[in-house]
Amino acid sequence: MEVIKGYTLLKPLSLSGRVFLAKRNDTKNLVVIKKDKLINLEREYRALQSCASDGICKVSNFVKENLLLELVYYPNVRTLLSFSDNDYKLLPEIFQKVITLLDYCHHCGYIHGDIKPSNILISPSNKVMLIDFGASLPIGTLYASLESYQLTPMSNAGMPKTALPIVDWQALYYYLNMVLAQGYSDIAKELHNVQEILAKKMVKSDFY
Ligand SMILES: Nc1ncnc2c1ncn2[C@@H]1O[C@H](COP(=O)(O)OP(=O)(O)OP(=O)(O)O)[C@@H](O)[C@H]1O
Ligand SMILES: [Mg+2]
Repeated sequence: MEVIKGYTLLKPLSLSGRVFLAKRNDTKNLVVIKKDKLINLEREYRALQSCASDGICKVSNFVKENLLLELVYYPNVRTLLSFSDNDYKLLPEIFQKVITLLDYCHHCGYIHGDIKPSNILISPSNKVMLIDFGASLPIGTLYASLESYQLTPMSNAGMPKTALPIVDWQALYYYLNMVLAQGYSDIAKELHNVQEILAKKMVKSDFY
């Protein structure tokens, strides 16, 4: 694995090879390290600072000269990706919490831009956290104005030319429909309520 000054890299956390679990050599704290181009790290840093709140991944250090962003590591969490047929009853509440967190980010002037199961963390006490603000942008940014930009495939359908809240709502709606297709009949009513909330948000966000 790569050597990064000041840290001991423990394991990769993403297939991209840019995100690692690491230990700080000074404090011995476990942290998450993200390596990228400065322009991307700066964008992510600004978004995380602007949306800083409970439920949003926290930045612990930005080392510009080493092109790394250090994030607080949340132990014992899992992503929504790991949800199985045993945990599905938690899903309506998790959707509600994600909606609240996204509302907050939009209120702070940013879209998340990459809403998908692997970017939603659940703690052992079922606290929900949003991570990976690598595609986050100030509301109103023109995608065409960006030097390099990667969109999650699930948010591509009917994409506006501008970073608008609808990008996040569509991505969450897409995931909700995948869950609905599983046919969990005992939570279907609650999921349909969430679907209605999201449908309203998608109409409303036309006016942003
Ligand atoms: N602060 C954190 N605490 C605990 N685990 C984390 C944290 N940040 C990221 N992870 C874990 O590492 C994975 C990859 O992180 P992240 O989403 O930021 O990178 P990525 O390159 O976009 O990866 P992916 O393409 O898998 O989404 C997450 O899906 C999650 O499992
Ligand atoms: Mg991710």
